[in-house]
Amino acid sequence: MKNIVVLISGGGSNLQAIIDQCADGRINGKIAAVISNRPDAYGLQRAIKAGIETEVVDHTTFADRTGFDALLLQRIEHYQPDLVVLAGFMRILTDDFVRHFLGRMINIHPSLLPKYKGLNTHQRAIETGDKEAGATVHFVSPELDGGPLIAHSTVSIERKDDALSLSKKVLAKEHQLYPEVIRWFCAGNLTYAEGLPRLNGETLQFPVKV
Ligand code: GRF
Repeated sequence: MKNIVVLISGGGSNLQAIIDQCADGRINGKIAAVISNRPDAYGLQRAIKAGIETEVVDHTTFADRTGFDALLLQRIEHYQPDLVVLAGFMRILTDDFVRHFLGRMINIHPSLLPKYKGLNTHQRAIETGDKEAGATVHFVSPELDGGPLIAHSTVSIERKDDALSLSKKVLAKEHQLYPEVIRWFCAGNLTYAEGLPRLNGETLQFPVKV
């Protein structure tokens, strides 16, 4: 069984989806700890309720990114994870931190990457007149939201959609997509080699649609 550490900053609805699939055996993994950079993140309550260890590494108590990342790395490594899952973790990480976990740290982003890296993804998709939006899971590389793409899920953008309604539709898809990718990783079907994801032995040049 693979050991997982999940990093959060907020509500933790993706975390909940992962907790549920670990609990019912669909994911062959155990969440060893949930670490938040915000003491008030609701996701911490979800973890406690599920009997998972929690930690807070509060970024506001550090003078710089390097100090924060150094302690965060140390706390993550304490649990010797096979996989580090960023689930709504809203901090930019230093290159050294990212390189340390290369090939074993994944992120979910609420857009069809490489479109709309960064924030306000739903509003930007609507303003551009896109017909489709979605979410993407990728291995984390030093470039923000720029790591090798593993899988994505799409939703259609309707005329009546605003950023809020679209974010709800995309989030519901995230709750299916993220556990699915984690399931592949924990089953040993998803790996990382020479800068690209491999799924069932095949190198992925493009994200798989879930
Ligand atoms: C999700 O939309 C995720 O894609 C983004 O932050 C949000 C986290 O939501 N990175 P939650 O905390 O999992 O509910």
